[in-house]
Amino acid sequence: MKIAVLPGDGIGTEIVAEAVKVLQALDLSFEMETALVGGAAYEAHGHPLPEATLQLAQQADAVLFGAVGDWKYDKLDRPLRPEQAILGLRKHLGLFANFRPAICYPELVGASTLKPEVISGLDILIIRELTGDIYFGQPRGRRTAIDGHFPGADEAFDTMRYSKPEIERIAHVAFQAARKRHKKVTSVDKANVLETFQFWKDVVTEVHAQYPDVELEHMYVDNAAMQLVRAPKKFDVVVTGNMFGDILSDEASMLTGSIGMLPSASLNAKNQGLYEPSHGSAPDIAGQGVANPLATILSAAMMLRFSLNQPEAADRIETAVKAVLAQGLRTPDIHSEGTTRVGTAEMGAAVVKALR
Ligand code: NAI
Ligand code: MG
Repeated sequence: MKIAVLPGDGIGTEIVAEAVKVLQALDLSFEMETALVGGAAYEAHGHPLPEATLQLAQQADAVLFGAVGDWKYDKLDRPLRPEQAILGLRKHLGLFANFRPAICYPELVGASTLKPEVISGLDILIIRELTGDIYFGQPRGRRTAIDGHFPGADEAFDTMRYSKPEIERIAHVAFQAARKRHKKVTSVDKANVLETFQFWKDVVTEVHAQYPDVELEHMYVDNAAMQLVRAPKKFDVVVTGNMFGDILSDEASMLTGSIGMLPSASLNAKNQGLYEPSHGSAPDIAGQGVANPLATILSAAMMLRFSLNQPEAADRIETAVKAVLAQGLRTPDIHSEGTTRVGTAEMGAAVVKALR
């Protein structure tokens, strides 16, 4: 088994170092190889996703990814910006299904801004489609408007599109995931306004016929955004397109107390995957040793379960994370009165120590 380790930029290097320590402490036989990605790769090789990094990722069974980006690259041409590395990896590895579980650990109920009764016991899974939607649809660009409200004015445009096979495969992923959980899928769309999402709704409904044991509900995205903070526990599996999924999963992260707690997995049809925290490179706290490494450590657990076929090792990590929270250890993002404030490395070391 081979893991490509791509720490990236900002807090990426700090949090991935802790996840690597936890993986090493498991005493399993896998090979880990590290490469540059994002701004770090741009500095060294002039490209955010150098050929050698891409090849390493393609040959590996799984990629453990930190985060990329920094404000200082905002002026670069778009293809050279650090964030393009993640889009390139998704594209070249064929990653189409993004899993973002949002779990509220009992110890962190107080760290959320929501009322305890709204979030305690929360365990939902957001599945975001990654290859389609307005992020990649062509044509896109800037031009002079020939119609619309202001003919002759400068304008920009993007294209929202989904093909039937793209919707079918993500719907299958969602129904299969729901079968292992509470057997309910909420498909989030904007079918009342968008042709693309009326089609989405029709195709998901068609696929649902193969899963009569799973309940399917359709919800408009604006309502879903509201329900996520009003009554999030009513959801089990949420499946949606690329853009709505991007936004709703960040929203859901706040239910768990901090974005520093939220892992993610992006899978292709062969169960190869890229595992990363849901947050970015956090330039505002980078280099201070205070970033929460738990989202990355929990992403490593997802990697063991989904791509490396080591479910027991995944359980061991998740149990150790619960144990350190029960011990009262908290990085600043989840700190509250009466708990012990620790830094990134101390938190990682505590997880290693709590492994059984
Ligand atoms: P961000 O997620 O990096 O940070 C948002 C806020 O959350 C900041 O206040 C940050 O300090 C805090 N935060 C994030 N992770 C944390 C952790 N583990 N522990 C404690 N606090 C944490 O999002 P932002 O600031 O919008 O973006 C920063 C850079 O990251 C940008 O260049 C952006 O493009 C990039 N980015 C990269 C992603 C990736 O690599 N997959 C995903 C999202 C953003
Ligand atoms: Mg996002």
